[in-house]
Amino acid sequence: KKEPRKRPSLITDINSVESNFCILEELKNIFEVAIGSAYPDLEDPPIIITLSGNNPKFGDYQCNSSMAIAQLLKAKNVKTNPREVANNILNKTPTSPLIEKIEVAGAGFLNIYLNKSLVEHVLNSIFRFGIKPPPVKRERVIVDFSSPNIAKEMHVGHLRSTIIGDSICRLLEFLEHDVLRINHLGDWGTQFGMLIAHLQDKFPNYKTHSPPISDLQAFYKESKKRFDEDEVFKKRAYACVVRLQSGDPDYIAAWKKICEVSRLEFQKIYDHLDIKIIDRGESFYQDRMVATVKYLKENGYLEEDEGRYIMWGNPDTHEGIPLTIVKSDGGYTYDTSDMATIRQRVEEEKGDRFIYVADAGQHTHFVTIEACAKRAGILKPHQKVENVVFGVVLGEDKKKFKTRSGDTIKLIDLIEEGLKRSLEKLVEKGRDKVLSPEELEKAQKAVAYGCIKYADLSHNRVNDYVFSFDKMLDDKGNTAVYLLYALTRIRSIARTAQISEEALLAEAKKTGFKLTHEAEWKLGKVLLRLPEVILKVANDLYLHSLCEYLYEISSAFTEFYDKCYCVEKDKDGKIVKIYYERLMLCEVTARLMEKCLDILGIKTVSKM
Ligand code: ARG
Repeated sequence: KKEPRKRPSLITDINSVESNFCILEELKNIFEVAIGSAYPDLEDPPIIITLSGNNPKFGDYQCNSSMAIAQLLKAKNVKTNPREVANNILNKTPTSPLIEKIEVAGAGFLNIYLNKSLVEHVLNSIFRFGIKPPPVKRERVIVDFSSPNIAKEMHVGHLRSTIIGDSICRLLEFLEHDVLRINHLGDWGTQFGMLIAHLQDKFPNYKTHSPPISDLQAFYKESKKRFDEDEVFKKRAYACVVRLQSGDPDYIAAWKKICEVSRLEFQKIYDHLDIKIIDRGESFYQDRMVATVKYLKENGYLEEDEGRYIMWGNPDTHEGIPLTIVKSDGGYTYDTSDMATIRQRVEEEKGDRFIYVADAGQHTHFVTIEACAKRAGILKPHQKVENVVFGVVLGEDKKKFKTRSGDTIKLIDLIEEGLKRSLEKLVEKGRDKVLSPEELEKAQKAVAYGCIKYADLSHNRVNDYVFSFDKMLDDKGNTAVYLLYALTRIRSIARTAQISEEALLAEAKKTGFKLTHEAEWKLGKVLLRLPEVILKVANDLYLHSLCEYLYEISSAFTEFYDKCYCVEKDKDGKIVKIYYERLMLCEVTARLMEKCLDILGIKTVSKM
């Protein structure tokens, strides 16, 4: 039998609550205590707490455990119904400064109404002490993302991986995890044989003079053509692979040159998008692959199959597909390198979480890697391979994303078009007349990079998504442009009132926050949800929830700003009254939006 769970300790004093307080977590704790004492014999009863949605008559949050518990009791032949269960839970619910009241409703819902003074207190701490991450156990997280292939094109799939992966890292870094950002470059393998052989022919003095390969893709195509058509060249290419993998300095030098050229191209994309990542390609694992193969062989995990060595995740059922660990010619594969990789990440990096941001097409590969790594004892039973999958990028015709002439789109061209379109949009709105050239350029970049990132992140990543500059540059709806404008507008409210942050702070210390108007109260409750959204996304890695939350903040703010004056002016435009608390609410709103945008990797501007 399991040990009885420790009772969570509950908040008893509002003043002990800090700016990073997570309401949802506390409610879960409260109801864990309540349900535990109402039904002490139930093992692991479900604690289901959700937001109540838009209708205020259902309260702010709900506890929906009663229906599930009634089912569990019925299975034990206890006669009851969800409403009765709800009432029993309610009777055992400890009082909390978090909760104003709880009502039993409908089929057995418990509607929870938040206590306004708690919300006011937390807003006040955010205002005075800033946004802090909710506390979590610190973990070492390895995030494998972007990961294009040397000498091949970095395509829109890699762009998605780059954007999603960077945002996941930012979120985990905000939570103060120890994050290792890895670029698992495809920089090893048989294609380097033909590339090196071709390099030797075309640029014989490559060791002393950097080869002027500007178009590596064309270089790749040329060498591939020779490889396919010329038997002698093909043999030489194979010989080159052998020399390279045995570490021959001349061949390593040639390989390095080719990698450098590619890497410079990738860096241009990373510079535009402000991506920090550490290069650690497949080549890094060469020795480790040798060691891993030896380990797998010696421990009897490999089976011979027509001259190859394969490994099944489950040797009894032979379910799914096996990994090819050693090819019949003795070479290693993508599977071999990922087995060596996971082993390195567990044993050398001492990782707690292993995240791979790669397109949905590779999901089976990662499922098999996980199964084999578990079987071989590399991963412990509680550890997993988290494959953050995403769908493909489509053009506006809902077909594969291509240029008008049918070519694949170069990422750099795509980004440049974004910059051009973003500038056009700003000029169309006459912003070039109000902003200085520097401000205009800043806005142009924020909008261009922001819109490309946000369009990707705001959709559920598992779905395919349609890439459309028209849609992403729309200033209405859930887009980066709309949000960036909304933010500058909020920032300008305090500016027009000419109240400094210090003056506001002094005011906050004097009066604290009071949420009087209905729209203030509504906005205030939305603003307190950052910790719960962050914790959810840190767990499921679906960033669109964060985007939805950001949009919700901005909608609640718009409603508030429509209904509540922050500054009252007379007919000559002279300020007659300043609502300090509302300006503080503006400040907290702006800071939260900035934080969310920062996690999404989107730069904000003070003017646009
Ligand atoms: N280079 C691969 C590609 O372009 C992605 C690598 C993903 N990471 C990994 N450890 N397999 O599809």
